[in-house]
This record gives sequence, C-alpha cells and structure tokens, in this order.
Amino acid sequence: MKQYLTVADAPNWSYLLDRADFYRRNPHADAALGKHKTLLQLFYNPSLRTRLSTQIAGQRLGMDVITMDLTQGWSLEFEDRAIMDGNKAEHIREAAGVMSRFADIIGLRSFASLQDREADYSDFVINQFARHTQVPVLNLESATGHPLQALADALTIRQHQPDHRPKVVLSWAPHPRALPQAVANSFIQGMQRMDVDLVVTHPEGFDLNPDIVGNVEVEYDQNRALEQADFVYVKNWSSYQDYGATAPQLKSWTLTQEKMEQTNQGRFMHCLPVRRNVVVADEVIDSANSIVLDQAENRIYAAQAVLAELLM
Ligand code: CP
Repeated sequence: MKQYLTVADAPNWSYLLDRADFYRRNPHADAALGKHKTLLQLFYNPSLRTRLSTQIAGQRLGMDVITMDLTQGWSLEFEDRAIMDGNKAEHIREAAGVMSRFADIIGLRSFASLQDREADYSDFVINQFARHTQVPVLNLESATGHPLQALADALTIRQHQPDHRPKVVLSWAPHPRALPQAVANSFIQGMQRMDVDLVVTHPEGFDLNPDIVGNVEVEYDQNRALEQADFVYVKNWSSYQDYGATAPQLKSWTLTQEKMEQTNQGRFMHCLPVRRNVVVADEVIDSANSIVLDQAENRIYAAQAVLAELLM
C-alpha cells in the first residue's frame, strides 16, 4: 500500500482487517518491522485517540514517532507559482520535501472548514501533502474521511460478530456544534466492503454525499431503522446539502435506552469523543452493550495494520 488517504486505498479490505485482527490478538508482533523508521504526525486539529493510538501503533512496530501540534496554525503556502510576499513563510514544496528527508511516513489531520463544500470535498490539504511528499501519507482525519477510524470500526464489528449477517445502523444524532461528515463517510465506505446489511438513518436534509452513499438503504424514520439492529453506530454530522448547517434542536434523535429496546440486543458504537445525553443517553453508553472502549482500543490495531502495510 503506497498511502492511506481513503478506505479505497486499501486494495484488499478483508486482508487489512485480518491484519488488524492479528495485531489485536498479538499486539507485540512485528516489534522490529519499523526499526530505524520514523513516523511524523502533524495535527492541525486536536486529538486524543488518533494521536495516541497511532503513536502506540508506531512504537509497537519499533518506529520512532514525532508529533507536531499545529493547532495554533501553520501558514503554509499551497498555491503553485505563488508570489510569497504575504504572511506565509514556507511553501508546501519545501516543507514536504524536508519532512520527507526526516520521516518515512507522514500522518496528517486537517478537518473540513464546513464553509466551502467544493474545497472540502477536494480534500485539498491532505492531497497537497500527498502530492509533494516523497514518502507515504497517512490520513489521521481529513476534510472528508477518517479511514483509520473506519478500519477500527470494522474490526470492532468483527470482534462482536453475531452468528448471522449483521444489521448495522448508522444513525445521525443532534450535537451543539457543526461537525464534519468524515467519520460517517469512511464508516459507510468500510461497511460497503463488509458482509453486513447497512442502513443509514437521519433527518431529512442531512443526506450524506450521494457519491459515497451509493445504493446503501436510507431510512428517515429512526425507530424503523433501529428495528432488529445488531450494531447501532451513532454520529452527528452537519448537512451536506445546506453545507455545514446543523440541527441541535432535534433532540428526539438522541439515542435512548427505549430506542435500543427495538434492536436485536444491539451493540452501541461511537467513535468518541461523545456528548453524553445529547448524542446518547447515559443508560446506553454505560450499558453492557456499549462497545465504545473496544472501538477506541481497536484504533491501535488498525493503525498497526496500516503502518505495517505502509512500511512494506
Ligand atoms: N475518534 C477520533 O478520531 O478521536 P480523536 O479526535 O480524539 O482523535
């Protein structure tokens, strides 16, 4: 694998999942695979899980890991042939060139602006890094995707696999802030490569990018969607059509224990961080059916699998 910018970069999802599952069972295997190799992580946005899990994954493979916190900003120039007489002190060409001399894999987190759909869906920043670096680039959540999360989510579903083809529901939930569509997009792309029945449910006006949803069943009635679900993945996303718009007032979409009663003893999933009693009721996330901590732990094994492939 040359890069991991989207779920589609994994030529064989099932193989990658097997590899992640291998690291789940053998977390300290391949401890020398990344010896004398360096992973550089760049974060334009805050992170707990992605930052730590990818660092742990790199270290378990024997890599040196360096993390740059860019949350206070880093004004790189991205335009070709720019006359750099403004406030941008460095061009992506040199920055990426230098980082390519220092590191063997470069991970990048750069969220959506939620101002300009076309710009966000070009995934400009991560694609500029991919264009100008000479080493593999790893998506630590970009404007439109979070493929490391998607692999961990798929691994978690496999870990709790029932003895039948599972029904997986991705449900929208309210949130006080406008959030990107990245997690939902990559989750759908991951599930499309799995043997599951996927249903996406959300209020009207919150349809995701049709190019990503494709033929996946969409149900606007959340209660109907939840019937007999084996897994319920709850996530807020802002509107794709009315780009960046939110609906925090739709509190009837909060996932409650009463709603979970309609499921097939459904497992509750969320990528975290989560707003308790806004996105999900305490009774659900604190129940025995909540697998959010498995999901978070599986971020390590997903990152190990991807890093191992990028190191090959
Ligand atoms: N799920 C996830 O990506 O968490 P962080 O934002 O803490 O990295």
